[in-house]
Amino acid sequence: MLREFEGKVAVITGAAGGIGRGLAEKSVTEGMKVVLADVEEAALRKTEAELRARGGDVIAVLTDVSRPEQVQHLAEQTLKTFGAVHLLCNNAGVGAGGLVREHTLADWQWVLGVNLFGVIYGVHTFLPVMLKQGVECHIVNTASVEGLWSRLRSASYQVSKHGVVALSEVLKLELAFEETRVGVSVLCPGAVNTGIVDSGRNRPTHLQNPIESIPVATPEMEKRIAQVRQAFASGMNPLTVADQVFNAIREDRFYILTHPELNERIQQRIGRILTDGVPLPDFTLSTMPQDMRRLFGIQLQEDGEK
Ligand SMILES: NC(=O)c1ccc[n+]([C@@H]2O[C@H](COP(=O)([O-])OP(=O)(O)OC[C@H]3O[C@@H](n4cnc5c(N)ncnc54)[C@H](O)[C@@H]3O)[C@@H](O)[C@H]2O)c1
Repeated sequence: MLREFEGKVAVITGAAGGIGRGLAEKSVTEGMKVVLADVEEAALRKTEAELRARGGDVIAVLTDVSRPEQVQHLAEQTLKTFGAVHLLCNNAGVGAGGLVREHTLADWQWVLGVNLFGVIYGVHTFLPVMLKQGVECHIVNTASVEGLWSRLRSASYQVSKHGVVALSEVLKLELAFEETRVGVSVLCPGAVNTGIVDSGRNRPTHLQNPIESIPVATPEMEKRIAQVRQAFASGMNPLTVADQVFNAIREDRFYILTHPELNERIQQRIGRILTDGVPLPDFTLSTMPQDMRRLFGIQLQEDGEK
């Protein structure tokens, strides 16, 4: 499995900012040649220039991962420039809020297009190259803890991340049975201090919702948005995530859970599946608003359930 990084080639999507940028910096530090892929051109060029200034052997390829022909172009540019690929981080992602009933089809298409199909296209395009090379390689798919449980108000995001976990698990099993030299990991972080709250900056025009359909923010909504921003701002440093990812690759670990304080919640979710069959909401039952209790048909167990 991939343990030595020096001189090897990394392809990282969503590399212009956040976790992807952290992965790119770490790859440079490890002596890798790095292909930065992102849809946000100015940020991509800035990252490319900054990593080159640090001595990184880096190229940038403007790529929308939701477009298979652009992911194919990314692979072609990678092979043309560096002749191989050893590490693929399918990391680009966007977030959108809303209950299932509030989602427009454009919301579903945008979020699943980037977060799930982006990963599918990455695997579909680069896996055959890696298998043909026959040398140690690794694929890291960025999911989220949101792919390991379900909660309110980010329906398309959760569906996309559950999909990434499932795809990664299936891929891991397939490759293990075939005894290939391609490792797989799925990255499931909690809150990380990145620009994901402002994902809308990269939403393509044809998938925008009509302006008149966007609800005017109520003070309650403004408050919730401010809380979400604060939660991400106080999240983990992307470089810390990147360190954990590289440790996991070296150890050939599949699940990369970067926030151990959230593991109990994952266990609770599994417990729910095996017992009473009601999804675990992201509130303690005692603080859960009445309308949401009704919405989820939750039997009240006031005696301190977390
Ligand atoms: N920030 C968190 O707390 C957190 C937690 C768990 C998982 N994640 C996941 O981490 C990944 C990276 O997100 P982040 O938090 O660093 O956010 P970010 O917005 O800082 O970075 C995401 C990057 O993806 C790029 N991108 C967006 N759409 C793209 C497209 N169609 N094609 C190519 N690039 C595109 C953006 O330009 C940006 O550079 C995502 O998959 C996200 O779901 C983030």
